[in-house]
Amino acid sequence: MSVEPLLTRDYDADPALVHERLRGRYGPVAPLELLGVPVWFVLGYEEVLNVLQNKGGIWSKDVDRWRAHVEGRIPADWPLLPIFQANNSAFSEGAAQRRLRSAWTQALAPFQDHSNPQAQLLEQAITQYADDLIGVLSEGGSTGFADLAAQYARPLPLMVANRMLGFAAARGEEVVMDIWRMADAGPDAAAAFGRLYEAMTELAAAKRERPGDDLPSYMISAQPDLTLDELARELFMLPGLLDFTASLVCNVVVEVVSNPDVRASLSVGAIDETVNRVALLNPPMANLTFRFPRADVKMGNYTIAAGDPVMLSVAGAHADPRFAGALDRHAIRSTRAHLAWGAGPHSCLGQRLAIQITTIAVRRLFARLSKVKLALPSDQLPWRPSPFMRALRSLPVQYELAEIYVPAGEGGFDGEALAAQPAPADEAGQASSRSGLWGFLRALRRGR
Ligand code: HEM
Repeated sequence: MSVEPLLTRDYDADPALVHERLRGRYGPVAPLELLGVPVWFVLGYEEVLNVLQNKGGIWSKDVDRWRAHVEGRIPADWPLLPIFQANNSAFSEGAAQRRLRSAWTQALAPFQDHSNPQAQLLEQAITQYADDLIGVLSEGGSTGFADLAAQYARPLPLMVANRMLGFAAARGEEVVMDIWRMADAGPDAAAAFGRLYEAMTELAAAKRERPGDDLPSYMISAQPDLTLDELARELFMLPGLLDFTASLVCNVVVEVVSNPDVRASLSVGAIDETVNRVALLNPPMANLTFRFPRADVKMGNYTIAAGDPVMLSVAGAHADPRFAGALDRHAIRSTRAHLAWGAGPHSCLGQRLAIQITTIAVRRLFARLSKVKLALPSDQLPWRPSPFMRALRSLPVQYELAEIYVPAGEGGFDGEALAAQPAPADEAGQASSRSGLWGFLRALRRGR
C-alpha cells in the first residue's frame, strides 16, 4: 500500500488541520510513513488511551519487537534510529523497566516534594536563573527585541538540568552547548552526541565515587546495582525531557501574550491553570515514540500486524471530537483528563518539575517585563520541524522592562504587596563572570 508522509510543510505549519484531514480519510488510525518508514499513526483519544494503559499487556516499547528493525529493513542512516537505540527506560518493559522507573521515581522525589529542602533550593535556583537570563537579554536597554526561545525558554531548563545532574559549572556549560548542537541536528550533532555520552558516563563514575545531592547520586542510592552504562543512558534522557519543558514555556508565553483574558488572569495567580490549558491545547510531546503489538490487533479500520510500529499522537487525540467535543471551553478549570503527560506504565515522572519550571519562568518574565508583544503575527511563528515535539524555533518579541523591579518571592503577579525597588545595577554583571554559555547568550542579543 502506498502511504502518505506525516512530515510535510502543512504538518509543520498546522498539525491540527492535518489531523482533521487524516481523521476524515482514515478514521482514528492512519497508515503513514515517517521519513520513509511505514508507521501506524493513532489519533483517536480512546485508542491512544487504551494503548497507553496497556491493560491486556499487548503493547511493547522494546525495539526488539519491531519486525522491520529486527529484519534489517530500517536503513542504518534513518535519522531517528539513534533515538530508538537509546536503550533506556523509555524503551524497556517488565521487570527491567520497573527497576529503572523506580530509580527515577526515588531520585526525582527530593526535587519534586515541596517539603524537602532540595526542592526548595531548586525553586530558588530556577528563580535566580530566570532573573539572570532576563538580566542578560535586557542588558543595554530597557526596551528592545528578544528571541524568548533561544534567550530564555531553552537555556533555563537546561540550566536546571545541569544543576540536577550535579556537574561542575564549567563542564555543565559545555554540556548545555552540546545538547543544543545535538538537538538542532546541525553538522556537529554527531560529535556532540559522542561527547555527551562520554560526559554522562564520566559523571556517573564520579558520582559513584563521590555522591552528592544530585539526581545521579540519588539514582545510584535507589538502585545500587545500576551499571555506569545504564546510569549514563538514563541521565542522557534528562536534558531532552527538559527541552520539552522549554517548548511548554514558549507555548504558554504565546498564549499569555496573544490572549488579553489570560494575561489578565495571571494577575490573580492562575498560571498553573494556563499551563494545563496549554498542555491540553498544544501538547509539547505531540507524538510518542513507537509501541509494537505482540500479536495482530484490530484498531480503527485496520488490523495492525504483530511487530508493526505504532505512533501515538497526543495532539491528535486531544483534537478528537469524541474528546474535544466534550470539553467546556469556557470552564474556569480545564480538564486534567488529557494525555500531555502520557498515561499507564510509561507515564511521565517529571510532570511536577516541568510544571514548576514553566510556572516560575512565566511568572518571572511577566513580573520583570511590563510589555511583551509578539514581533510576528502568531500564525507566522516558526515551528521546529519535528516528529515528536511541537516547539517554536524562535519566539521573537518586543519587550519593555518594568520600571520597578519586583523581587522574586514578593508576590510577583500573585497580587500580594509588591515591593518596589530599583533593578539591581549589576544583576547581569553576576552573570558576566560566567563563561561560554553567557557569551553565547550575549551574542544572541538584538538591537533595538
Ligand atoms: C513539558 C515537559 C514534559 C512533557 C510534556 C512530558 C511528557 C511525557 C510523556 C507524554 C511521557 C510518556 C511517553 C510515552 O509514553 O511514550 C513522558 C515520559 C517520561 N517523562 Fe516526561 N515530560 C516532560 C518533562 C519531563 C521532565 C522534566 C522529566 C524529568 C525530570 C520527565 C521524566 C519522564 C520520564 C522518566 C519518562 C519515562 C517514563 C517511562 O518510560 O517509564 N519528563 N513524559
